[in-house]
Parts: sequence; C-alpha cells; structure tokens
Amino acid sequence: MFRHHPPRGRRTAGFLATALVALSAGLTAAAPTAAAHADTTLGELAEAKGRYFGSATDNPELPDTRYTQILGSEFSQITVGNTMKWQYTEPSRGRFDYTAAEEIVDLAESNGQSVRGHTLVWHNQLPDWVGDVPAGELLEVMRDHITHEVDHFEGRLIHWDVVNEAFEEDGSRRQSVFQQKIGDSYIAEAFKAARAADPDVKLYYNDYNIEGIGPKSDAVYEMVKSFKARGIPIDGVGMQAHLIAGQVPASLQQNIQRFADLGVDVALTELDIRMTLPRTAAKDARQATDYGAVAEACLAVSRCVGITLWDYTDKYSWVPSVFPGEGAALPWDENFAKKPAYHAIAAALTGGSPAPRGECTATYRVTSQWQGGFTAEVTVGNGHTAPITGWTVTWTLPGGQSVSSAWNGDLTVGGQEVTVRNAAYNGTLSRSGSTTFGFQGEGTADTPADMTCTPSPATQSSGVIG
Ligand code: XIL
Repeated sequence: MFRHHPPRGRRTAGFLATALVALSAGLTAAAPTAAAHADTTLGELAEAKGRYFGSATDNPELPDTRYTQILGSEFSQITVGNTMKWQYTEPSRGRFDYTAAEEIVDLAESNGQSVRGHTLVWHNQLPDWVGDVPAGELLEVMRDHITHEVDHFEGRLIHWDVVNEAFEEDGSRRQSVFQQKIGDSYIAEAFKAARAADPDVKLYYNDYNIEGIGPKSDAVYEMVKSFKARGIPIDGVGMQAHLIAGQVPASLQQNIQRFADLGVDVALTELDIRMTLPRTAAKDARQATDYGAVAEACLAVSRCVGITLWDYTDKYSWVPSVFPGEGAALPWDENFAKKPAYHAIAAALTGGSPAPRGECTATYRVTSQWQGGFTAEVTVGNGHTAPITGWTVTWTLPGGQSVSSAWNGDLTVGGQEVTVRNAAYNGTLSRSGSTTFGFQGEGTADTPADMTCTPSPATQSSGVIG
C-alpha cells in the first residue's frame, strides 16, 4: 500500500579536490516538527512504522471534491462508514445490494488504499425484517448474510468487523435480537461463517468503551481468550475509540498489549476525540495531546496494526448529531484546515528523532583513468538518521560517458539513466555505516551532476518510538 512519490528535500552538493572528485547527494528525512513533515501524509508516516492510518467515509460525501482530494491522498486505509451495514446490503431477505459499498471500495482501490469491512452483525442499522425472523431461523439467516457479503468482497478487504457492539458496559451480553434468539453462541457462529467464506480476510470483534481496562473490555478479553482456547477463528479486536478530550483512558496501551498477548491484532477503528463546543485554543491543545497519546499507545504495541479516524473532517463528523453540544472531534476542521491534533498525530507517527525513513548519501570518486575509459568507486553512506535496509543510487550519464559493468551492486542502464541497487550483502547500513560499489566506464570520467541515493524504508523494530 506504500504509494511511491518523488523523494522530498533532495539536496546536492559537489566539491572538487585535487585527485578526488566527489559528489554527494542525500535524501533529507523528516525532522520531528510540524513544519518539516508538512508534505508527508499521515498514511506515509504510519506506513514507515508498519501501520496504516485511515479514515472512514460515507457515500453522500463523495461529490465534495475538496473532501475526496484529502481523503484520497492523506490516508492509506478506508473504512466504509455505513453502506456495508445490513440495512444497505440485505434490505430484504435474500436480496443483496452492494452498489453503494462498492462505490467506496472502488474509490479506495483507485487510490491504492486498503479497506476495512464494517460491519456484518450489529443490532443497529438492521432492517426491520431481521427482527421478525422466527427464532429457529435466525442463525441460518445470520450465516447466509455473512456468507454472502464476505464472499462478495473476498480479496478486496483487509479486515471484517464480524460482530459489532455485543456487550453492555457492565460486561454482560447486549440483549440484541441475535443474543435473544440464537443465544451466547451467535458470536462464535458468526466468526466461523466468516472464516468459511474467506480464509484470508482478518476477522475482528469491534466495540466502543473497550479502550481502557474495565468490566466491558474484561468481558471482550475473556471472550477472545475462550475463542483462542476453543479454536474459534478470530484475528483482531477493534477498539472504536470514540473518545473525549481530557479523558483518554490511562490504561489504553496496557489494554492493547493484553489483547495482543492473547495472540490477536488490535486496531483503533473509529477514532475521534470530541470536546464540548465551542472550540477554544486550550481545548484544541488538549485534544492534540490526546490524539498524540493515542497514536503513541498504538505504536508502542507491535500488534496494534493501524488507526482509522471516524471520518477526518468536522464537516462530516457523526459526533454533533449524537452527542448534543459536543463536536470538533476530528483533526481537520469543517473548512478542511488542519488542527493542532493533526500535527500531534504526525509528530507521534514520526516518533521523534531519529526520523523513521532514514537517508543515504552517494559519493563518487575516480579510482583510475586511461585513454578512453576509467573506473570509479561510489561510497554509499547512511545519513545518520536511522538504519536502512537497502539503497538505490541513480544518475544521468554525463555526455560522452557510458557504463559497462559494476561490482558490489546491481547495475541497470536505460538510455542515459543509470541505476545501481545494493547487492544482497551490502544493503543494510547502520546509522553510521557505509559501503562502496564500483563501476567501469567508457569515455570521460566526468562527475555525474545529479547522483542521488534513495534508501529503502527502514525496518521498524516493534515498540520503539523515537
Ligand atoms: C455511525 C455512522 O457514522 C452514522 O452516519 C450512522 O448514522 C450511525 O452509525 N459505532 C459504529 C459505527 O460501529 O458504525 C457508527 O457509525 C458509530 C458508532
């Protein structure tokens, strides 16, 4: 899902010494300040940490081109906010309709974004007919719904929220129609049906108010533990994270960790952090701190795989309609201006210094020269920010020069463009490491004017922030 884009902040500097011609080119990595990562998206920052950063969206918003421009560029993952729910996908028994959901999946795919499916079994946004199904038939109806929808989207989604919001605050089961007519076993049955329909998509249980440790998250924890013990297929827990500024649970990281320790992934699936209106600078600052803390808690646990905002702009937030007097819950305001929360998330994803992306330099020197030819050596150095796992040096042949062979690197020549990639044994460079490759050329030994080194993304060791 990593989108390729021209490296930022290339800088070149050359100098001439008597017997040494050197040129160095570096890729400047993001510094942990708001300004420095202004042109790196949250999706890219998260990607460098091995995570996704996404947004929910909904069909009525898609004609807003200002909205879709940011939706399509800033995020690496999309959740279908409404139109994969039962009321849309099976409005009457046995009649399935995925038109609206597919509009969003198609858009995400065209933008190179992954998609979470949300949600198969939930007590809300359920068409009336489901409530009227006789008790003896509901298990079959539920299985059919899951099978049909999971099958339909097979291969296009990374996750499914199989069951949503099945517990009450005290940890008891919510008395949904499924609970009442099928009984406790309905959740396990739902997961089994989903797995049977698609062996690869990751299956999630999703709920709110399970971000901190308490009776409700304890109940989900016990369920996951028992699923694991009984071989019921479950891959992840989605913590919705509809939070309140100033009230992020202190046990968030510890809670994510205890689920991870059961052998499931964790995703923050519907993040927003609301405040009492009106917005003030002080509330924005509080909210920014909270967003940063949530992102850090996720990054601190290697099995926390990603974060999704429940839409990204206050223009389309669900909060004001559901929590009267509250709102301003998202990192972009209703005019698409980035709030302090945005910069706090970016800073948390950047993880302080050293920057995650690494950088490298290439220094050229002629090692021998004869009539009509020469050999040169290029020193590839780490730019001292973060370890890198590979490098690619490119340059344009100066007029009258050609390259015939290279050693300690993989040579490709296409027209005037020369590319040398690391060999299998010299791609990894520690923060202060360097290596060399050499090549033989014909013609003049002139210094290439645009030699550039691009690092492969550094591997992130889990749990390391900054
Ligand atoms: C919300 C949508 O954002 C609204 O547009 C809709 O009217 C109701 O549902 N938990 C969930 C989401 O799992 O599906 C809900 O989405 C928000 C709470």
